[in-house]
This record gives sequence, structure tokens and C-alpha cells, in this order.
Amino acid sequence: MRLTFLSVIAAAALVIITPAAASAQLPKETEAQKVQRMKWWTDARFGMFIHWGLYALPARHEWVKNRERITTEDYQKYFEAFDPDLYNPKEWAKSAKEAGMKYVVLTAKHHEGFCLWDTKYTDYKSTNTPFGRDIIREFVDAFRAEGLKVGFYYSLIDWHHPDYTIDSRHPQRQENDADYESLNKGKDMNRYREYMKNQVRELLTNYGEISIIWFDFSFPGKNGKGRQDWDSENLLKLARSLQPGIIVDDRLDLKDVEGGWDFTTPEQRKVTKWPEENGKKVAWETCQTFSGSWGYYRDETTWKSPAQLIELLSESVSKGGNLLLNVGPTGRGAFDYRARERLEAMGEWMKYNGRSVYNCTEAPSDFVPPANTLLTWNPETKRLYVHLLAYPMGSLKMENMAGKIKYVQFLHDASEIRYSTGSGDESNTINMQLPVLKPPVEIPVLEIYLR
Ligand code: GLC
Repeated sequence: MRLTFLSVIAAAALVIITPAAASAQLPKETEAQKVQRMKWWTDARFGMFIHWGLYALPARHEWVKNRERITTEDYQKYFEAFDPDLYNPKEWAKSAKEAGMKYVVLTAKHHEGFCLWDTKYTDYKSTNTPFGRDIIREFVDAFRAEGLKVGFYYSLIDWHHPDYTIDSRHPQRQENDADYESLNKGKDMNRYREYMKNQVRELLTNYGEISIIWFDFSFPGKNGKGRQDWDSENLLKLARSLQPGIIVDDRLDLKDVEGGWDFTTPEQRKVTKWPEENGKKVAWETCQTFSGSWGYYRDETTWKSPAQLIELLSESVSKGGNLLLNVGPTGRGAFDYRARERLEAMGEWMKYNGRSVYNCTEAPSDFVPPANTLLTWNPETKRLYVHLLAYPMGSLKMENMAGKIKYVQFLHDASEIRYSTGSGDESNTINMQLPVLKPPVEIPVLEIYLR
């Protein structure tokens, strides 16, 4: 008897919190409509992430306030010193465009809580620092002028807002079994949720068309925060109502809610295959840094080489995904010389090889990549791209290709690659003749026109 009563209660609770019931509020769309809405983004393949805030001044990780358990009072010195006199978003936009990037996502607010725009809802904003300018306003104008789509990163986490409760990832976190309840007395997450909605409304109302919103991030569980803490569904509903075409990441803790996210976000790691959700391939974007941290980190020496970065881009496309590559501008507001070097190298490669990236995706499975190569594929032009990660000596064989080819060339200079078809065991294999000398291209690409 008691058991039945309990299970009735449990069932009732389930009805209340079941995501399907709540998702009725989110706009509905068919799979085909979603693909269409996201088409510019999947075609673009390559974007720039920008992490910029007060943490550029300590220059030792954007989590410095947390890592070093700095109090808000002690962190104030960065606010008072913030005066990035070299901030010129036209230069940023130019270097993103020249690198071949088609969209940009800037941290409007990161976990430290500092706001890069003239928000009405806090004094903790760029316009109140010695710098005094609305960074976001100038930023959106500059990137739009270069033809890039503009997006915002908005941190759900906030280590400055007085109503944001101390949790396990907070600078003032305690030992595991600490009494968080009494620690957080007087803090009201309701007010914080209102604050987020107000800010998201500002960002998605006052700055024209915003193409992407990147909410970051949820960590449900003990002393953590998740969808209830953020009121994720209503936050998302608000974003979608203000910017109907907007593309949204998957960090609101709404993974199981229909319409709760648009793409998945493997961070700082290469995927081994096209990511799936419930057995279905999903839209994805890997976000990556040049050197390890997202904010400007002066003393970090673990910078990826241009070849590694180009491979990362090619490999993402070869598995049907995007790359969002991060720059952490300095406290002066400029891109660090190491970032500029790498962006230039990527631009040099993209100028001659971008055709193997834009509008491309994973190749159909009947194409078998030769060793040390990656394949990308443009389904509209029916061209196959072979990215040569290690330059072969003299020739390159590819199986299962006989009778399929119209023409082969190097992509960077449109010089013909001659090939022959094998015989006997290899009658289905083609053998492409390559010059012994590797062309002066970081990763050379063969372009195969298919019949
Ligand atoms: C993280 C980090 C962060 C960075 C982000 C980028 O979750 O907290 O500092 O902004 O990932 O993906």
C-alpha cells in the first residue's frame, strides 16, 4: 500500500519535471528546418573565439580568480587598471578574416562577471573602467563590416554578482562537506536569474543580428548548478524569441530537451569520429586554444604549431564539424605576437586551400583515406580532397577509385596530378604521381574531381 502511494508521488513528480512537458514552450522546427537554419554555420566551418576580460591583466588564466581564490576586493585592482589603449576591433576583424574565419564569438561576460558592454544592470562593466568604452558596440560594428557573423559567449557562472551562490567551482568554495547553506545566507538566486535574463535581453536586442549564443556552463550535482539554477529553458526561450535564427551551444544542461541545443561542443580535444546523440550524427564544433588557456597567458609556452592547427581544422571538417579557434587579447587590447603568427599561417594556407574546408564535410564511407591523409568532401561540387599530413615520396595510391575520377590536381596551384590505374589485385586502385619535392604548403591538398 505504502509502496503504491510512493510510486504515485514519484510518477507525479516525474510529470512535473519531465523535459518533454516543459519543452512545449520552445519553438518547434523540423530536422530539415534546423539544417537550413544552421547552414551558414556548417558551411563556414571555421570561426574565431575571443576570450577577453579583466583576467587579461594578471595574464595567468581566465580562471585566475578561482585558481588563486582571489576575493572580489582583491580582484578590483584589475578593474581599476583596465585601459586597453590598443583596442582596435577593426584590426581583430581583419586578422580573423584573413585567417579564413567566417564567424566570431566574443565573451560578453566570462565567469569573473565583468561585462564588456554598457549594461544597465551592473556597474561592473567596461564603461566604468578607465577605458570607458562599450567594447561590444565597437566589436560588432567592426566584425560585421568585414562580413563575419557575430556571436556572444555569455557565462552562466558569475563570481562577482552578490546573489550568485558560492558553489564547488567558486573562488570562495569550501571543503566538500562545508555548510554552503549558511555560507550563502542572504544570496538570492532568483535575483541572479532575473539579472541574466535582463542581460541576455540587452545583448540580443541592442546590437543588431546576433547569430550565435554560447552559454557556459552547467555542472549539476552536489554544490553545483544546472538547469533549475539558471532557469535554462526560459533563458533559451528568451534568446530564441529575440533572435529567431540564433544558433545555441549545448551547455545549458538541456541535452535531453527537444530544441534545447543546436550543436555539441567538444572542448580542447579532437574527436575520434563524428559525434552522435542517440545514435544520430549531430552538429558539432570543437573549441580550441593556441596554447592551453583561453584568456591571455603570458608565460604559457605550449603553443600549437601552424601544421598542428591546420590539421585540427582539416580533421574537424573530415568528421563533419567546425573549429572555433581562440585568441586571448592582451591587456592592451592587441593580439599577442604568437597568436598573430599562427593566424597568418592559417590564412596563408586557407587562401590556397580553403576550398577543401568551406562547404565541405565527411566523405562518403566508400572513399578510403590512404595512410597519413584526411579526406574532406564537397557534396555539391562532388569533389574529394585528400589532405597530405605526411608528404608521400613520389606517389600515392588510393583504393576503390578506378573509374570514378575525372581529373586530379593540387589544390593550391591547380597543377595536374597524373595517375594510372593498377592491374591484377590492384585493378581498383589508382596511383597518383606526385613531385618528389613537397610544395611549399604546410599541408598540401589533392583535389579530385569525381565523375
Ligand atoms: C570552459 C571554461 C572556460 C572557457 C570555455 C570555453 O568551460 O570554463 O574558461 O571559456 O570552457 O569552451
